[in-house]
Amino acid sequence: MPMPTSEPLKIALCCRTQPRLDATYDLLRGIPGVNVSVVTLGGAYEAIGVLAEQKSDVLVVEADASSASDYEALTHIIAQHPSVVIVLIAADISVDMLRAALRIGLKEVVSLNGDPAELPQALDRIRRSRSHSVATGGQVMAFVSCKGGSGATFIATNLGYALAERSNKRVMLIDLNLQFGDAILYLSDRRPVSSVVDIVRDVHRVDAALLESAVVQVLPNFWVLPAPNDPTAASEIGGADVSGLLSFARSQADYVILDLGRTLDAGTVQALDMSDHIYPVLQQTLPYVRDGKRMLSLFKSLGYSEGKQRPVLSRFDRNADITQKDLEDALEAPLFAVLPNDYKVASASVNQGVPVPKLARSSAIAKSLSEFAGRIDDPISAPGQTSWIKRFLGSRG
Ligand SMILES: Nc1ncnc2c1ncn2[C@@H]1O[C@H](COP(=O)(O)OP(=O)(O)O)[C@@H](O)[C@H]1O
Ligand SMILES: [Mg+2]
Repeated sequence: MPMPTSEPLKIALCCRTQPRLDATYDLLRGIPGVNVSVVTLGGAYEAIGVLAEQKSDVLVVEADASSASDYEALTHIIAQHPSVVIVLIAADISVDMLRAALRIGLKEVVSLNGDPAELPQALDRIRRSRSHSVATGGQVMAFVSCKGGSGATFIATNLGYALAERSNKRVMLIDLNLQFGDAILYLSDRRPVSSVVDIVRDVHRVDAALLESAVVQVLPNFWVLPAPNDPTAASEIGGADVSGLLSFARSQADYVILDLGRTLDAGTVQALDMSDHIYPVLQQTLPYVRDGKRMLSLFKSLGYSEGKQRPVLSRFDRNADITQKDLEDALEAPLFAVLPNDYKVASASVNQGVPVPKLARSSAIAKSLSEFAGRIDDPISAPGQTSWIKRFLGSRG
């Protein structure tokens, strides 16, 4: 969300002891352009409740990122409130704590026993970086395959290409299908030398140069971070690693597209938490419908709102037994996009490693991808889409 320079930074403050709370509050109050809107006795865990109740720009919180419970609470805050900047304060800062903080993508860690100017300086940096950036970061879109072979990778890769082509916005596709990821093969014949795993290994020092060295560039504004070749490498990656990686990717790209395959583990759930929208991809046969339903109810149990989910129908066939309406009734959700079935175009594209918008620009798949890309930024998925689907299907829809 854009933040005008003139508006004061709204700060939520949480400290574990009353004297520290009072002292930090006094310090913050003396800083121009800062408005301390909530003051709470507590640490990272209490901050979750504070942020749920009160919108803030910055959370100044006394916590120890290297303790498991604080680490978990901070990771949760980052996932739930990606636009809130966290300033960690602590009496003593250990190397372990610094490392943990950097791992989850926290940039500001201030020692309470150090230079009293540290905190004002940190807030000044935050204020300046906010006035420079127009948005808080790129949009994260997760593609999930309801069943193997749904078309999730095909859509994630080709949509990424279509999105990059239609504007000069920066698009990054991250293949988080860590065991069997093959997204790069849909876009390029280049053999990647690095993967997600190399970046995550170094996530505490990830910067633009490191990321650039690991991605495959497909278009001037479209990059792919491939999955590892070695399927066992996946076990190295946990929720906090994914959190750090995505926080950084979001600061670098306008659209971050994730191919999650159909694995659900700590890493992929963290990725789903941090996604703006989830696109479960399914087809029009009963096994897909069944797994699609399961997938959507799982998302519901993870606490995701209906608006966050945007089911996509792949390989649409007008004459199939299960109609689009049957599908929407079964899912109890409208479809966000529908891609036509075109075996010839899709298999030529996949076999050659050339995306459809490039290989067959005038094909029906390319056209619906382009339309899909044009609707990504729609704030509301459900109400506006009836007309779009009708247009796509013609009067018979
Ligand atoms: N719209 C389509 N029409 C015809 N075939 C398709 C279409 N989309 C995908 N396919 C084919 O389905 C296969 C599996 O798709 P893929 O994206 O790899 O599935 P997933 O990632 O969900 O397992 C691809 O090899 C591709 O050839
Ligand atoms: Mg796949």
